[in-house]
Amino acid sequence: MNILIIHGPNLNMLEKRDSDIYGGMSLGEINRLVEERAKDLGLQVEFFQSNYEGAIVEKIHQTLGQMYDGIVINPAAFSHYSIAIRDAIEMLDIPVIEVHLSNIYKREEFRSKSLISSVCHGQISGFGGYSYILALEAMNKLIM
Ligand code: DQA
Repeated sequence: MNILIIHGPNLNMLEKRDSDIYGGMSLGEINRLVEERAKDLGLQVEFFQSNYEGAIVEKIHQTLGQMYDGIVINPAAFSHYSIAIRDAIEMLDIPVIEVHLSNIYKREEFRSKSLISSVCHGQISGFGGYSYILALEAMNKLIM
């Protein structure tokens, strides 16, 4: 089973961001943790990070008709305003799980709205890098 992990803008800079909010792991460390858990679960993972909305939209398009069984996505700031990413996800017939490192409902008001969640199977928010592990485990159950 092949799972695509998409990281949105500024997640490549996690080591410079507030560790009290985002948990203190770098993106490389998160990816390594995800890779280890994926191996235990017998899943293949591919990682994609971009700071550009269009690049994320195109990556989602590229999964159409390809051998992906699910997507775990942290759209980062795009979660709160990207109709384009929302519409791209809506076209898919594989499960998509939305992930956030921080609890977006416990922060500024503008973060408490996700345009993405209504087209996702579910959302995991607030567990730092471990949010991705929970999402991977949930995905594994879904696609088994
Ligand atoms: C985030 C939450 C977003 O509000 C923020 O813009 C991010 C990261 C998270 O993982 O907690 O960049 O998606």
